Amino acid sequence: MKRTWFDQLAPAWDSLPGQSETAARAETFLRKVVDSRCGRLLDAGAGTGVLVEPLLRLPHPPASIVELDFAPAMLAENRRKHAERRAVRYVCADLSLPPFPASSFDCIVLFSALPHVENPPAALAALLALLRPGGRLAVGHLMSSEALNALHASIGGAVAHDRLPRAPELAALFGSLGARVLLAEETPEEYTVLVEKSA
Ligand SMILES: C[S@@+](CC[C@H](N)C(=O)[O-])C[C@H]1O[C@@H](n2cnc3c(N)ncnc32)[C@H](O)[C@@H]1O
Repeated sequence: MKRTWFDQLAPAWDSLPGQSETAARAETFLRKVVDSRCGRLLDAGAGTGVLVEPLLRLPHPPASIVELDFAPAMLAENRRKHAERRAVRYVCADLSLPPFPASSFDCIVLFSALPHVENPPAALAALLALLRPGGRLAVGHLMSSEALNALHASIGGAVAHDRLPRAPELAALFGSLGARVLLAEETPEEYTVLVEKSA
């Protein structure tokens, strides 16, 4: 049902209020969490690909970017916009059951996606398994958890009950999954939790 909900929104997604500033603001998030050791990056819940151009503008852009989403229409829009970008691949799959071998990635970003996932602990464990030892996973949003949860409640429909935990709570969950927390902070403008997989 949630997949259908996002698919229906796909043609209008990039014109939704605030989306035009999202790429510029996302670049600030990416500069904080993606470094030169991130050659192979997974963008989980990639949607229409708001992160692709900001990723390619980084001082050390990833050599390979996998755009993963379970909503085919969101991913089709993403592919249409970035067809000429050779570093980018597209995978239509549920991020809770990611179709990659262990240690496939140096870096995983979940940008504006985690609250929509059905079982976050299981999904995050599955994603951590995809990282090489010492690899990094980052969860990012452009508002606080409180503001985002209120926004979802006001939108209603399939996302009415989608919740983002406060940053310290998410950090504790990552800790219980064996990851080392490097950063867990939120302000009214941004939310960042960055963890490293133990070596
Ligand atoms: C709010 S949108 C954000 C998209 C994009 N990251 C952005 O910031 O514009 C959330 C995206 O996550 C995807 N998504 C939600 N749950 C998912 C899951 N379990 N597996 C894969 N994708 C998922 C949705 O299809 C949607 O494209």
